[in-house]
Amino acid sequence: MDVNVKTEFLAKNAREAAEREDLIIVIDALRCCSTIVTALANGAKAIIPVKTLREAYKIRAMNSDYLLAGERGGVKPRGFDLGNSPLEYTRERVRGKTIVLTTTSGTTALALSKDSKHVFIGSFLNAKAVAEKAFEIASAEHMDISIVQSGTKGKFSLEDFICAGAIISRMPQKHIEMSDSALASLLAFKHAETDLCATVMKSSHSRKLIELGFKKDIEFSCRLDLFQITPIYREGKIVKGT
Ligand code: MLT
Repeated sequence: MDVNVKTEFLAKNAREAAEREDLIIVIDALRCCSTIVTALANGAKAIIPVKTLREAYKIRAMNSDYLLAGERGGVKPRGFDLGNSPLEYTRERVRGKTIVLTTTSGTTALALSKDSKHVFIGSFLNAKAVAEKAFEIASAEHMDISIVQSGTKGKFSLEDFICAGAIISRMPQKHIEMSDSALASLLAFKHAETDLCATVMKSSHSRKLIELGFKKDIEFSCRLDLFQITPIYREGKIVKGT
């Protein structure tokens, strides 16, 4: 039986995907999910995603060995150990650590997905790994897949749309049934693939990140299939998966 693959454009739509009991892949290519994937690939023990700064400070107050990480307006909030730049999450910095992470849109999409049985974290960096694992589980458990794009501050974002297409492109094409929006993502990715980073850099969020001095984060986040991991969000924590 074919697996239905759908996409959602905004973080808030994660709730509907969870209510449909779909397997969810949360994407925030710039930069939350790229940061999560990089941290776990570099040996972080777990990531605890939270929506608000208040929750993040509270969890850290109870666990002094946790790293406090994330952004508001793209920059590291006061008192935080790490920002939201994947390049900060080196092996030396994160190995063996639990990280409390709060970002503007990405951790909101995660929080709204939490009731789904299977929630994976996707990015360009692990597109193939997450596509294959999601397809395998959805196929075995007769579930649909919803790829939830976090968007940018409640609005559609180009990089997440193209990233959804990258993930779909790595699923067995003969065995999936795409919604119109999923197919549009795939077509956009195919169009952008040969010059992926240049296309992603045209998005409004990229332009903002470049202004803030984070151009290297965009270049890094566009590296397709760099990591073979499938981070999974379960019981409030994201761990590496296989
Ligand atoms: C978000 O979650 O809104 C983003 O990761 C923002 C950012 O690029 O820092």
